[in-house]
Amino acid sequence: MTRKDNSVARLYRLAQSARSGQWNLEHDIDWSRRPRLPFWMRRAQARKALSQLYHGEMATSDLCEALLADATEDRYEVRSCLGLQLQDERRHAAAYQRYLEALGGIDPLDDGLQRALTAARHGPFGNLGAMLAYHVVIEGELLRLHGVLAQFVPCPLLRDINRLVGHDEARHVAFGKIYLPEAVQALSDDERRALYAWLEGLWQDAADSALNRRRANLAIATFFRRWLGGGWTRHAKALDSLGLPSATGREQAA
Ligand SMILES: [Fe+2]
Ligand SMILES: [Fe+2]
Repeated sequence: MTRKDNSVARLYRLAQSARSGQWNLEHDIDWSRRPRLPFWMRRAQARKALSQLYHGEMATSDLCEALLADATEDRYEVRSCLGLQLQDERRHAAAYQRYLEALGGIDPLDDGLQRALTAARHGPFGNLGAMLAYHVVIEGELLRLHGVLAQFVPCPLLRDINRLVGHDEARHVAFGKIYLPEAVQALSDDERRALYAWLEGLWQDAADSALNRRRANLAIATFFRRWLGGGWTRHAKALDSLGLPSATGREQAA
């Protein structure tokens, strides 16, 4: 079996597991419970952070829709995975929306995240750049936010939502690991270098703007500095595993 046949079979299996793993917003979450925040956290703070998860889900669902509308990718197994991811992302957004409504509503999208999402969608590397930016960088950060929320917000309702969302996200990551290396391999060395630099710049801009806007509060600025410390290193590792090494990685391989 060639590598290509192997990836086709893996994408079919992934689509199958996505079909059988679909959960239902009404039946699989007990909405009779209310959000439970720790005593030191104001509702407005929780709403602001969780609203970014909601907007991230909406943006990812828009990207899936755009990729499906673009007929360049016509392989059945890829379109199946993207179609199922679209359903997943819409369900995730609906779950966060419902939780946020119980907290008083959805806050606007953070300016830095807004700029990163727009730049990722309309960058010089088309669909591949957008997929790498969303799959690796933006969803990677949002998943880290899941982890932090799980640690600081011991709310059973939010924990159930994040658990179900997390199962789906693991499948999306698996899709990227199968699909993206093939597309990256088709690029020249120069294109790969430029793509890596563009992704790093995108992350750096979003990180700088997140930090600058939080200077007013020392405790929050310290938290963000810690959060961002080593952040790119994690993404660089993920990109390397997809065949997009950093300058250092390229030198070591040479
Ligand atoms: Fe999602
Ligand atoms: Fe996702």
